[in-house]
Amino acid sequence: MKRILSVLLCCALAFSVCCAFGYAADAQGPCAHGEEYWDVVRTEPTCLNDGNIGYTCRECGSTWSETLEKLGHAYVGQVDTPSTCTKRGKTVYTCSRPGCGASYTDSIDPLGHDITESQIPPTCTEGGQLVKTCSRCDYIKTVPLDPLGHAFSDWVEIVPATYRAAGKQSRICSRCKTVEELSIPQLSHIPAAYCPTGDANMDGSVTAADARLILRLAIGFDDGLDAEQQQMADFDERDGITAADARYALRVSVGLDPYAPTLAAGYTFKGYTSKGYVLAEKDGITYVVSSYGYTMIANKTYSLPSSYAPGGLTAECSAALSRLQNAASANGYSIYEISGYRSYWLQNDLYNRYVAADGKAAADTYSARPGHSEHQTGLALDVNSLSSSFGNTATGRWLAANAHKYGFVIRYQKNKESVTGYIYEPWHIRYLGVELATDLYNSGLCLEEFFGITSAYSY
Ligand code: DAL
Ligand code: ZN
Repeated sequence: MKRILSVLLCCALAFSVCCAFGYAADAQGPCAHGEEYWDVVRTEPTCLNDGNIGYTCRECGSTWSETLEKLGHAYVGQVDTPSTCTKRGKTVYTCSRPGCGASYTDSIDPLGHDITESQIPPTCTEGGQLVKTCSRCDYIKTVPLDPLGHAFSDWVEIVPATYRAAGKQSRICSRCKTVEELSIPQLSHIPAAYCPTGDANMDGSVTAADARLILRLAIGFDDGLDAEQQQMADFDERDGITAADARYALRVSVGLDPYAPTLAAGYTFKGYTSKGYVLAEKDGITYVVSSYGYTMIANKTYSLPSSYAPGGLTAECSAALSRLQNAASANGYSIYEISGYRSYWLQNDLYNRYVAADGKAAADTYSARPGHSEHQTGLALDVNSLSSSFGNTATGRWLAANAHKYGFVIRYQKNKESVTGYIYEPWHIRYLGVELATDLYNSGLCLEEFFGITSAYSY
């Protein structure tokens, strides 16, 4: 048993010595004779194959060997095709060990352009150019630069507008010194803050005496007022001193708005629009009073009572619609009504349905709340198609360009959404009469802008 154990131990020792010295696993280790008895045969390792040292002992005949690990390739790279700015290059790697000859090719990233920029600078009104060139190759790229636009100062009033004449304002570009002038619209009524007091005789209060004095001046009676005083008597700054100025003084003396116009029966004066037009009300309906007459307003600010129910398009609007339709067909177009008069209650139904489908905020952009729809006036109708693309059809274009000749306008124009309160509706036409429709069309304004009124819900 002892003997078996020592044999096993010797075997294990011999195995671990062989492994530690790199001897072949199937060979025996060095013999006990010195190396002067050994014959050595050496096979050199190559890049891919292991080498070997073989030993034979001349004394005892034992043989064993030692492995020499393979060397692996010793690659040396040489550029074969250099990269350019835009194309990949090539490097060939070859093993430098004699007799191996192994090689492979690898690509090299492009260099990218080496850009230098130069500029033809833009001016206020002319575009410039940014030129990019590569210092290595013939690459050149030209990028257009937008004109800078003028760097205008704020408008400066040169001639103030008065109630008799337009004024003038100008501004200057700090870069190119271009000067732009724009007229300031003539004031269309005298705001209260501007009004002189009506105290023509300057005795500290406005009384009938001031009116009398003005009347005397109006008929040329010399009251001994100097030029400055006479000017003060021209309260409304229109047509010199006239009976109107006397009326002005009288109205002030009894606490009335001096400019309240004389309105047709049943209308009450509500004030002025921001453009100086008179706003009047009758039976809960708002009108703008102007040289065009009494224009009924139904928008987000001004509503109609539920009781206002003309029952259909008004006779004047229907007659004008027929003339428009005849003119359209004479030109090869067909204009047909798809929704005309709508009662307060029909509008109520419609609006509530849109709210249920799209929500209130969305519905408010395209459908009027009951009482706020122009369809209730009997002066508005939808024609042909409830699609914004109708505006781009030949019929839609003809309508937009000609409706005013028959007293209609496209009421909710493109780019006026924030003023009218509604999306572009090329199908919704409003009857305003030929004169107002034509002036409105030529002004490029929407009805709200033209009269100086708002369109916004207060609830
Ligand atoms: N679609 C317009 C704004 C209306 O409902 O009257
Ligand atoms: Zn409509």
